[in-house]
Amino acid sequence: MKGIILAGGAGSRLYPLTLVASKQLQPVYDKPMIYHPLTTLIEGGIREICLISTPHDLPRFQQLLGDGSRMGISIEYREQAKPEGIAQAFLIAESFIGADSVALILGDNIFYGSNSFGPAFEDFTTGATIFGYHVNDPERYGVVEFDASGKAISIEEKPAVPKSHFAVPGLYIYDNEVVGITKNSKPSARGELEITAVNVEYLNRGTLRVEKLNRGFAWLDAGTSTSLHEASAYVQTIETRTGIKIGCPEEASFRSGFLTITQLAEIAKTMPNCEYRSYLEGVVKEANQIE
Ligand code: G1P
Repeated sequence: MKGIILAGGAGSRLYPLTLVASKQLQPVYDKPMIYHPLTTLIEGGIREICLISTPHDLPRFQQLLGDGSRMGISIEYREQAKPEGIAQAFLIAESFIGADSVALILGDNIFYGSNSFGPAFEDFTTGATIFGYHVNDPERYGVVEFDASGKAISIEEKPAVPKSHFAVPGLYIYDNEVVGITKNSKPSARGELEITAVNVEYLNRGTLRVEKLNRGFAWLDAGTSTSLHEASAYVQTIETRTGIKIGCPEEASFRSGFLTITQLAEIAKTMPNCEYRSYLEGVVKEANQIE
């Protein structure tokens, strides 16, 4: 399975923070925001990743992540010249996807909790898998409605009157049909190829799975100054309490078997003396004690 991170948009709600660095490069406590979706894909066992951003911001991501080898993965870059919808990612990355299945994650989505996505990645064969998460403000999102048996029966993009409290988070897993489905879909009233239209097509075909994320799981939004601050506070609280970092791609690569313990130790050595390096050295030390 291939992975796509879509990190586009103007980030206008974070102005003036986003004048020189895009939203997905803003710090969430101790790391750039993009480390979170990157870690989620790596934890899902994905090693080949394509990052899509604006022509203006793409060089900054390349500077940060390079070709991915420092993290035991490979990263390709593609431009989204205009913000013409989330689903446009499948057209931009068509040659990258090839004949594979693909997981798409939005660059500003932060997930944390028990291994809730693991089985969805591991067991995926065909169709589409998306998720449902109970939120207070479903009208801001794609909203999924379930029948009494728990089966998804409708999905609407930002409905004025939501049919449930279940929002669709920005992590989507599709088989290769997604490219053709996107090609056949028409831009919405706001001129975008909507991800919700793609999900509705899978729903109509009877090949969409919607998995409810449990209560203990955190899906954080970081698109406004307030929510960005709250996400930072959340990450700081958990990290300080547990001594475990949230959204650390190097550690995730090690745990997914993409980096050996020796490689992880070498990578840590290339970093300046800082808290992030000390953390990775701690991961190496702990793993060596267990072996
Ligand atoms: C997009 C999608 C929406 C989804 C949300 C998740 O909204 O269109 O269906 O629920 O991402 O973050 P946007 O962030 O573009 O408003």
